[in-house]
Amino acid sequence: MRSKIPYFIMIPSILSVIMFMFYIIFGDHYIGHPITISFFITITILLFILDSIDDLIFRRKIKFLTEKKRRQILEENEGNYFFIFYKFIFHDPKINQEVKRIDHGFDGIIELDNKLPMWWIHLFYLTIVFSFIYFFSYFLTDFSNPYKEYEIAYKKQLKEIEIFEKKTPQVTIANAFFNKKFIDSGKILFEENCATCHQSDGSGNIGPNLTDDYWINIVDKNLFKNIFSIIWNGSKNNPTMRAFGESGEIKGNDIQKISSYVYFINTKSKKPIKSKTHQGKKIMDWN
Ligand code: HEC
Repeated sequence: MRSKIPYFIMIPSILSVIMFMFYIIFGDHYIGHPITISFFITITILLFILDSIDDLIFRRKIKFLTEKKRRQILEENEGNYFFIFYKFIFHDPKINQEVKRIDHGFDGIIELDNKLPMWWIHLFYLTIVFSFIYFFSYFLTDFSNPYKEYEIAYKKQLKEIEIFEKKTPQVTIANAFFNKKFIDSGKILFEENCATCHQSDGSGNIGPNLTDDYWINIVDKNLFKNIFSIIWNGSKNNPTMRAFGESGEIKGNDIQKISSYVYFINTKSKKPIKSKTHQGKKIMDWN
């Protein structure tokens, strides 16, 4: 008769296998869900009940053994569980048998047919079992499927962006301000959205030169706010310069960055070598 594996090894092992299967099938979607938690609590209670039934049967069975045998089994039961586990994995009763020799006869070479070690065989079976679990979970569930994982991560990120944008209010003309830190990112945005008409250095093309002191549109006494306002509302007298902010094409925060870049190229002393001729009125006394 085999000795009994104690409950504090058996139950956690079975539980972890069930949890692993649960994770493979459902992923981490339902981990904190009350139903999941009660499911695992129920399973734990069931395992305890099963174990006590098993314990009862075990005690019943050893009652019919001789005193000596009973003591032997009970002693085995109380031993070092790691050693029992070690024996289960590595011990093979056949290992001590004599090594089989295969005699090829004709060349005088004798081949030794050694038994494979137990740990190797157990590992081999484990890989087969795992490959089945993995195979079915890969094809029947979303586990480890890169396309599904990508989709989930992508949706999650979109949601995070949405939440972020809702939480952080966009800058408006009322609270926009110039910041040196925005110049670099503003330059990139300017090249993407404005360079077709104004050139990437702001020297002008279809749209006017933005680096000189001449302005067609004067809607604010402050230079930075004037720039912000034109980008937000567009030009009243030429629809080619459209209302980027009002139409929602560019968000307030990005307009603040672009405006910082335009403000920077307009106020810095080094002007582009070639630029479009002045248009509008010369304004020097900005606030
Ligand atoms: C489709 C071409 C086009 C694009 C794209 C464009 N603009 Fe303009 N922009 C113009 C034109 C044309 C004017 C002149 C409007 C007028 O005559 O009132 C202008 C005027 C301006 C002015 C006012 C200049 C002045 O002297 O009054 C600013 C500032 C400006 N644009 C910035 C930008 C920025 C920043 C962007 C990118 C977000 C941009 N523009 C994109 C064509 C464009």
